[in-house]
Amino acid sequence: MEKYIQTMAGHWLQLLISALIVLNTQVHCHGKAMVDFTFLQNAEAKGAVCLDGSPAGYRYSKGSGDGANNWLVLLPGGGWCDTTAECLNRVKTSPGTSSTKNITASSFGGILSPNQTVNPDFYNWNRVSIRYCDGSSFIGDVEEVDPETNLHYRGSRIFSAVIDELLAKGLNNAQNAILAGDSAGALGAILHCDRFRALVPNTKRVKCISDSGFFIRAKDLPNASGREQYFARTIALHGVAKFLPTSCTSRMDPGLCFFPEYLVGNVQTPLFLLNSAFDKYQISVTLKPYPADKPGWQNCTSHTETCTPAQLQIIKEFRNTFLETLKEIGDRPPTGLFISSCYIHDHLFFDSRWNSDGSPRLDNKTIAQAIGDWYFERSVVKLIDTQPNCPVDCHVL
Ligand SMILES: *[C@@H]1O[C@H](CO)[C@@H](O)[C@H](O)[C@H]1NC(C)=O
Ligand SMILES: *[C@@H]1O[C@H](CO)[C@@H](O)[C@H](O)[C@H]1NC(C)=O
Ligand SMILES: *[C@@H]1O[C@H](CO)[C@@H](O)[C@H](O)[C@H]1NC(C)=O
Ligand SMILES: *[C@@H]1O[C@H](CO)[C@@H](O)[C@H](O)[C@H]1NC(C)=O
Ligand SMILES: *[C@@H]1O[C@H](CO)[C@@H](O)[C@H](O)[C@H]1NC(C)=O
Repeated sequence: MEKYIQTMAGHWLQLLISALIVLNTQVHCHGKAMVDFTFLQNAEAKGAVCLDGSPAGYRYSKGSGDGANNWLVLLPGGGWCDTTAECLNRVKTSPGTSSTKNITASSFGGILSPNQTVNPDFYNWNRVSIRYCDGSSFIGDVEEVDPETNLHYRGSRIFSAVIDELLAKGLNNAQNAILAGDSAGALGAILHCDRFRALVPNTKRVKCISDSGFFIRAKDLPNASGREQYFARTIALHGVAKFLPTSCTSRMDPGLCFFPEYLVGNVQTPLFLLNSAFDKYQISVTLKPYPADKPGWQNCTSHTETCTPAQLQIIKEFRNTFLETLKEIGDRPPTGLFISSCYIHDHLFFDSRWNSDGSPRLDNKTIAQAIGDWYFERSVVKLIDTQPNCPVDCHVL
């Protein structure tokens, strides 16, 4: 699988493809239970549709035993589309992030796994994964549909309509609840966290998790304006601005209010940040420091042992900036941290990363143990790996 990924251009799609390959491998190799896809009822009438106009929906595995009244809702990732052309291209080439047409059942791993050994704290909860098919981190909302492109920008409606349906299925009586997100979905989880909390007022313990969603502005690193403009275009195209917190938009340009460093300090609900300080996606895809030497940067970021000293220096500077940015947000939420040095992106739904002999450990805790301890308040979990100064090959899928 690693080889397959490395031959791909440095593009967010590779992440999605790798996730799909792993899921499929698990299905075939270990015979895991499949989880059906549920189409949202009256999705079209509610306007809760994917980029291509197909109805939104989710995969749902019912809770049981002492987990019967606990709910975990996951927002998966898959990058963004920032222009009409990019969104059209997404519809054409990536139904997995733009559509629910031809959708099939798939298995749940990691934090969604039904296996108690792999997922001791959440295996028997009600577990939901919402389809990510809007290209805006579940937060856009544009009423008009251009008949020429038929593109629908409705991320926020998808989130709200699915949560409404889950409330009717028992989420409204939840004792415990988590809104988790991965990558672009993690940004959605951060942005929707307090809204989610408000929708389940009687729930005792509500918390949010951001996995690989701490996208830093890194304004002193190369191509900072490229990253800022990319987010600004995404926000404008998808009509996101009206959903951004005024705590951010009142003091800066809305284009900057997609950077979690300006958001997490104002989230009132407990929030866990799970991330690598050497986040592979940010380093290989969004950093792009060498416009004139792109192939060299691609070689370096797919095989870090081939990096030149100058390239490694940029990678180390990224990490220092990441840790400094984290420090600057201070003591307000996040209330839990697991910041590793593994050169990976996405941790939550791979068994091998979430909880295995080889999974990243800090303070000898796997991610599953760290998040379980934080969620149930068994201990304070603020773990940051400050030891190695190079990206670590953690030998996990
Ligand atoms: C769905 O399947 C049909 C028939 O195989 C195919 O023509 C179409 O392109 C598929 N659509 C998507 C979005 O995958
Ligand atoms: C649960 O996971 C463990 C550890 O990976 C594995 O050994 C076991 O076979 C799994 N159980 C089931 C029922 O799949
Ligand atoms: C800068 O980053 C943006 C967004 O990631 C990217 O589209 C652009 O190509 C980058 N610029 C250069 C010069 O590589
Ligand atoms: C990238 O790696 C390939 C294969 O190892 C090599 O042929 C090519 O010259 C490298 N490109 C750069 C710019 O280093
Ligand atoms: C780390 O945890 C593993 C299993 O959870 C245990 O076997 C091992 O002894 C622990 N190592 C240390 C150094 O505490």
